[in-house]
Amino acid sequence: MKILLLGAGGFIGANLTERLVNDGKHEITALDIQREKLDETGKFEEIRFINFDIRGNEKELERLTVDHDLIIDLVAMANPSLYVSNPIDVFKLNFTENLKIAEFCVKHRKRIVQFSTCEVYGITAARAFGKDSSKYPTPFMEDDSPLIMGPVKSHRWIYACAKQLLERVLHAYGLEEGLNYTIIRPFNFIGPRIDYLPSEHTGNPRVFSHFMNAFLYGTPIKLVDGGLNYRAYTYIDDAVDCIVRVIENPDGVCDRQIFNIGTPENEVTIKELANRMCATFDKYFRQPGDPYPEIVSVSSEEFYGKGYEDCDRRIPDVTKAQKLVGWRSKYDLDSILFRTMKYFVEKHRAKQAGIQWVAT
Ligand code: NAD
Ligand code: UGA
Repeated sequence: MKILLLGAGGFIGANLTERLVNDGKHEITALDIQREKLDETGKFEEIRFINFDIRGNEKELERLTVDHDLIIDLVAMANPSLYVSNPIDVFKLNFTENLKIAEFCVKHRKRIVQFSTCEVYGITAARAFGKDSSKYPTPFMEDDSPLIMGPVKSHRWIYACAKQLLERVLHAYGLEEGLNYTIIRPFNFIGPRIDYLPSEHTGNPRVFSHFMNAFLYGTPIKLVDGGLNYRAYTYIDDAVDCIVRVIENPDGVCDRQIFNIGTPENEVTIKELANRMCATFDKYFRQPGDPYPEIVSVSSEEFYGKGYEDCDRRIPDVTKAQKLVGWRSKYDLDSILFRTMKYFVEKHRAKQAGIQWVAT
């Protein structure tokens, strides 16, 4: 199969590309505006890479769509600080530009695998009705759970809302024009190549990179509003394994389906995540001279600015992925943290020692 992988240079994209190249079953065209993570895979020479901004390049994008059998769309701004600082850019890229890709797939009758997000579920029904969601562990189900967003003034929701609207448009194109789509809702993947360390790069990445930065650069571990909200983490290799099953789509079982990809057993509060990462670092990676970061609580407004509101709890129901493609994740939280932290620690120590770093 000829696969067009849009956003292949990102965290999920680079890990997925590596796996697809290793499998050797498909011809991959990888498209992105960055390539560093693909370089890290050591597989760059085995793919066709196109340095390409999907904004304002419609003709070429359409030509590429025609030329491939399957389109996988990972392109997005996927970092909560951007939802607060650049909401219009988030909407335009994550909805308007992504819609063009979907419409080329409708026009040329191509299958699309569209990356959405677990954020489409929004907040829990418990929280919406003023209850303490820690007492109501209610897994989110792809085809049954309501999608509950906060008020418009909390513009953090523009990301989830844009992704949700795109999902609804794909569904409608499926109904009216026979579009063959599969939607994937990732639940907090972590692993090598996630984001960047804030001391090495401008911006405000996702939580794992902030906490990792604290161990390597001594910055404080900041718990936003006390770190009381929950996330359920999935290791990137487990996630990629499920994505590959969806791509293979045996007997068309994934046609016009939405899949949660997540690991309900790996649920923690952000405060617990910080404590588990501290314990993992101390046990496996600490060397003399490494900083001991302090753990502080900061308000969400201080950390992100006005307009932030958090998802309180996101437990995936993964029955569908299990039933249709036979997938369950394998990695527990401790091994996920160990493997991901190892990647960052080894890369950092090599950089400090001036040694050429090669991922192991
Ligand atoms: P990422 O930011 O690492 O990857 C996105 C990629 O898109 C980047 O490489 C970026 O350079 C590229 N891109 C951005 N603008 C572009 C443009 N104009 N033209 C071409 N390429 C462009 O994010 P990720 O974590 O790999 O997420 C991939 C997808 O999965 C996104 O759609 C995201 O919303 C979704 N998702 C991811 C997670 C997760 O756990 N990582 C969770 C929920 C949803
Ligand atoms: C992110 C992004 O929305 C998307 O990449 C994606 O849709 C989703 O994760 C996902 O991975 O499934 P979120 O989990 O809110 O959403 O982003 P993080 O930055 O990882 O934040 C997780 C939690 O940690 C939030 O409660 C946040 O307030 C908190 N946080 C973040 C801290 O306590 N300290 C920090 O330094 C950073």
